[in-house]
Amino acid sequence: MSIQAKAEKSVPLLIILSIIVVLFGGLVEIVPLFFMKSTTQPIEGLKPYTALQLAGRDVYVREGCNTCHSQMIRPFRAETERYGHYSLASEFIYDRPFLWGSKRTGPDLHRVGGRYSDEWHRIHLINPRDVVPGSIMPGYPWLAENSVEGSNIAERIQTLKTLGVPYTDEDIAGAAEMLKGKTEMDAMIAYLQNLGSTIPAVR
Ligand code: HEC
Repeated sequence: MSIQAKAEKSVPLLIILSIIVVLFGGLVEIVPLFFMKSTTQPIEGLKPYTALQLAGRDVYVREGCNTCHSQMIRPFRAETERYGHYSLASEFIYDRPFLWGSKRTGPDLHRVGGRYSDEWHRIHLINPRDVVPGSIMPGYPWLAENSVEGSNIAERIQTLKTLGVPYTDEDIAGAAEMLKGKTEMDAMIAYLQNLGSTIPAVR
């Protein structure tokens, strides 16, 4: 009996063979990515997040902004005309965790950096309807009141450094100082304004 005939008659054998095929397919697709420069090396000019931007990113995660906003522009014309250059893997090298997402209740935010003024973001985040009538995005007025001072930001940057993000000792030493007098709103805006800004020329 051929192996095909056996597999067609035995469910356990069929399951085992299917798993082997799927695993092999996975290896062929995934393993080369670890060795490709375009997915493992940072794009030229990519800077690690500053302490303030990193604090803003934490607030972004805490508030679940990524449940409505993706940060991944796909390489299709409808996307690139609306949002700018499609996202490159090399732009996310310092991101931990990734915030790509696929849920778009709101627009993709990967290249929102520089699109609006800080003041626009401030008003929009407190009450989106003040600048975009009919917006269904919730307001986040507490960001303007909460301070980001006194967090464990230096330790967090140290951890990222251990994981390979090229922070300097000065970055770590100056981290707490950078958050002095800043609110979560300041941090969030610093984060948003930096999003996708590594390749402004091709926007
Ligand atoms: C319930 C879904 C929802 C959540 C949660 C949400 N947003 Fe939005 N967001 C939207 C929608 C819808 C729009 C489009 C209308 C508008 O501009 O207000 C939008 C627009 C935006 C824009 C303008 C984008 C552009 O290109 O015009 C920014 C910036 C933004 N959101 C940031 C955030 C941040 C930061 C958070 C978390 C603090 C957040 N959003 C949470 C739904 C959401």
